[in-house]
Amino acid sequence: MKSGDITVRDVTLRYGGKQPVLALDRLSLDVRPNEFAVIVGPSGCGKSSLLYLIAGLEDRTSGSISVDGAEVQGPGADRGMVFQSYTLFPWLTVAENVAYGPKRRGVNDPAAVTRYLEEVGLGGFAGHYPSQLSGGMKQRVAIARALANDPAVLLMDEPFGALDSQTRHAMQRLLLRVWDHSKKTVLFVTHDIEEAILLADRVFVMSGRPGQIRKVLTVDFARPRHEDLVLDPAFIAMKREIMGLLKQDEDA
Ligand SMILES: Nc1ncnc2c1ncn2[C@@H]1O[C@H](COP(=O)(O)OP(=O)(O)OP(=O)(O)O)[C@@H](O)[C@H]1O
Ligand SMILES: [Mg+2]
Repeated sequence: MKSGDITVRDVTLRYGGKQPVLALDRLSLDVRPNEFAVIVGPSGCGKSSLLYLIAGLEDRTSGSISVDGAEVQGPGADRGMVFQSYTLFPWLTVAENVAYGPKRRGVNDPAAVTRYLEEVGLGGFAGHYPSQLSGGMKQRVAIARALANDPAVLLMDEPFGALDSQTRHAMQRLLLRVWDHSKKTVLFVTHDIEEAILLADRVFVMSGRPGQIRKVLTVDFARPRHEDLVLDPAFIAMKREIMGLLKQDEDA
């Protein structure tokens, strides 16, 4: 069984074109097996780019990225990705969306599809089409679809960013439950500092572009964490610290 550690070493990403952009500059980070790691950073600092590099959807300019000791050279079933916008296939049913990845690898296991849908609370929606679902439900399908490949690592790019705050809280609880059951490594990007602290074992704070890791904060509030934690002075102190780290770029 893969444990899902991620090692990023001195990774630089330069986008080409008429106006080249240095998106990431010798960025390094380590994510531990089964860890829930969250990345926050100013808009445009390269958070999505970093996730695409780890997913193997984008090529780094230099540096090394490995997952479970294997150098990343392209997309693979060991890494599941969930994006902010809904990326389900509209012409496939919910169950077919979830079954898609495994089928491509020659795995046909309807019982597993049902299990993943039940895990995200959509047991009764297997035959629905994405257009018949709410935003939160679509994201739950996207999570089930990512889980269906049984990846060691889940890469999540602002997956709840488009949801109202009540749905967002429900999705956070659901994700933590899934993470607790499946013992996967999660690398999660968010703009929402409270979300970051509520979810994370560690928060990686990035600098403005070109992105680097400015600080790594360990979040040791006991789990399960209740939403009331946001009122705890220690929580507020951590929130203030992260806001201060992000503000350094606005001031620059
Ligand atoms: N395909 C691309 N080609 C050229 N430049 C790109 C490309 N994708 C991103 N960039 C640039 O790279 C930088 C980092 O972009 P990225 O999307 O990774 O930032 P981000 O931290 O995810 O931002 P946000 O918080 O707004 O989602 C930005 O300056 C962006 O304009
Ligand atoms: Mg982004």
